[in-house]
Amino acid sequence: MALEKRTWAEPFKIKVVEPVRIPTQAEREHAIREAGYNTFLLRSDDVYIDLLTDSGTSAMSDRQWAAMMMGDEAYAGSRSFYRLEAAVQNWYGYKYVVPTHQGRGAENLLSKTLIKAGDIVPGNMYFTTTRLHQELAGGTFVDVIIPEAHDSKSLHPFKGDVDLAKLEQVIKTYGAERIPYVSIAATVNMAGGQPISLGNVKAVGELAHRYGVRVILDAARVVENAFFIQNREPGCEGRTIASIVKELCSYTDGCTMSAKKDPLVNIGGFLAVNDQAIYDDAANLAVIYEGLHTYGGMAGRDMEALATGIEESLHEDHIRARVGQVLYLGKKLTDAGVPIVLPVGGHGVFLDAKAFLPHIPQEQYPAQALAAALYLDSGVRSMERGIVSAGRNKETGEDNKPRLELVRLTIPRRVYTQAHMDVVAESVQSVFEERACIRGLTMTYEPRYLRFFQARFEPLGA
Ligand code: F0G
Repeated sequence: MALEKRTWAEPFKIKVVEPVRIPTQAEREHAIREAGYNTFLLRSDDVYIDLLTDSGTSAMSDRQWAAMMMGDEAYAGSRSFYRLEAAVQNWYGYKYVVPTHQGRGAENLLSKTLIKAGDIVPGNMYFTTTRLHQELAGGTFVDVIIPEAHDSKSLHPFKGDVDLAKLEQVIKTYGAERIPYVSIAATVNMAGGQPISLGNVKAVGELAHRYGVRVILDAARVVENAFFIQNREPGCEGRTIASIVKELCSYTDGCTMSAKKDPLVNIGGFLAVNDQAIYDDAANLAVIYEGLHTYGGMAGRDMEALATGIEESLHEDHIRARVGQVLYLGKKLTDAGVPIVLPVGGHGVFLDAKAFLPHIPQEQYPAQALAAALYLDSGVRSMERGIVSAGRNKETGEDNKPRLELVRLTIPRRVYTQAHMDVVAESVQSVFEERACIRGLTMTYEPRYLRFFQARFEPLGA
């Protein structure tokens, strides 16, 4: 029987607990109004179960906490940096490492180092901060993901795959000299945490390298991706997660890492590359935007926790329980007839807001409205991943209208129990039963960049 189908249990016991409390109905009504119906603007004290993000919300292990005491806070040449560098070289296989304060710090260094005005960056679906850094550096993102990724009902096992013909067409149309790199995410966040197959990454590497184009991996959730490869890709069943991760990275020329995801820390990231010239430029830019190249944006203790977290993230029992918990919630919701993105992804369950709220047109922000309704029902916090997140076209200023209009229930790693998942499923079900009462929203404040973080809304027809 495939591992993902068997029962799993948490491969840890709980040593420290943080109490949570359910805000009252009146408190929830007040809080969401104050937050402008944007779950990013809620105070966490007003949240019961926080599924806003899996980013920086993981529980660290006793080994990680112990490692923090070993942090070397030297400004230059910290021992903790060398430990982190060795972990990245050992587990991901890249040669040079620049620590950054988090993933977007690495995206900034990479984009500024490699992209020039007029460049084209093909990738397997955009990510918000990644695309913005590419655009701010003068580039234009071009989506080359397979069409199945945009279809919430397609059961394709690797919806993160690149459409190779499309990628080759983009390279031929614009010319390799205008393509600084191909941007590959594993897994693809905006598609619902969907994996890319090992075979596809290999083929992307071969194709791009044939034209002299680099491939850069967004490695934030590469371990979750490896779990799906192990369970779904022919020939990979018996392999270790660590060997799959290392092979996947080997087809790419470097990575940006938000260490707040798979590597199990609350803050941190890095840029890793194999090319010394790129490293030299990025390390030099780091001193402007992050800090000296041997700490970037991180404290020595943070680098220690990260070095330990990288290794823990690759344990078979860890990743099986981590993704297993997400699949558990997904199954409860599909069994209840709730429309979600299928197959269930690695870091969360994504509600299909278009199917959930067919009476709300996309211009009235159905996913934003659904996230607010879920919070009102139970104090469960989720996140919009639809038209608000997609932002505006950088040339025309028009709203980008993504086919996927989703609400993400993102599961932090090692934080909640199966009982919490049951409560979440019950709440989603009751919102589903009452869905006809949910109204659309109007945007009353729109910030210039990454508007989903800070935009404010009001219910229509109030
Ligand atoms: N790449 C991916 C795929 C991400 O999901 C994120 C962050 C980043 C890059 C940027 O990393 O936050 O450390 O600067 N995703 C968070 C989320 C915000 O909730 O999905 P960061």
